Amino acid sequence: MATRKSPPKAPVKASAKRARKRVAVRDGEAPEPVDDSLAAMRDAARGCKRCPLWKPATQTVFGEGPDDARVLFIGEQPGDAEDLSGHPFVGPAGKLFDRALAELGLDRAKFYVTNAVKHFKYEVRGKVRLHRSPDASERAACRIWLERELAAVKPDAIVCLGAIAARSVLGSKFRLMAQRGQWQTLADGTRVMATVHPSFVLRQRGDEERHAAYAQFVADLSLLKRGKRGP
Ligand code: URA
Repeated sequence: MATRKSPPKAPVKASAKRARKRVAVRDGEAPEPVDDSLAAMRDAARGCKRCPLWKPATQTVFGEGPDDARVLFIGEQPGDAEDLSGHPFVGPAGKLFDRALAELGLDRAKFYVTNAVKHFKYEVRGKVRLHRSPDASERAACRIWLERELAAVKPDAIVCLGAIAARSVLGSKFRLMAQRGQWQTLADGTRVMATVHPSFVLRQRGDEERHAAYAQFVADLSLLKRGKRGP
């Protein structure tokens, strides 16, 4: 009897392979990335359940930007707009960040932008979801993702936006208001600097205070420009 050859198989896309490999993730665990690439990390982080924040959040908000970015920004955690869109720094704080960079002639598209914690932590008040700071155990649980991002991108410089981001890189003794705008060098040679979180600027009540906080934020970011001891 003649045997019929089965038709050639369509090539399986890498993403489909990964999806097929995905097994149920238990609470307290995260799927392993299939390789060291940012794409694989982003894919694995979607299923992360290492801390309880995954449950009320809409989705994991992973970092974005070129794999070989020379500068990597770290924020605290996604806010409401980021949780809904899946992208970091796209809400009001992100818009202020974009404005400050544009004023300095710095192109955000060249930077990798991420957060210390990848899920939105909030409490519901009426119709709004109010940001709540991630606690130490949530920050510790999420740390593997930031470490993997840093290892993959290998930036020359890290800029921390706010105290939570700064302490995730520079340790718990870091004092933001005393040490902001000062470059430090990590053991591996990476330069690190911290400034306030853009939402700190937005939270200032009076116009004068807000303008002053914004001007200082821009002045800190200007240290990224060549000739200012930046990278
Ligand atoms: N605040 C952050 O720290 N990160 C975001 O992505 C948005 C707001």
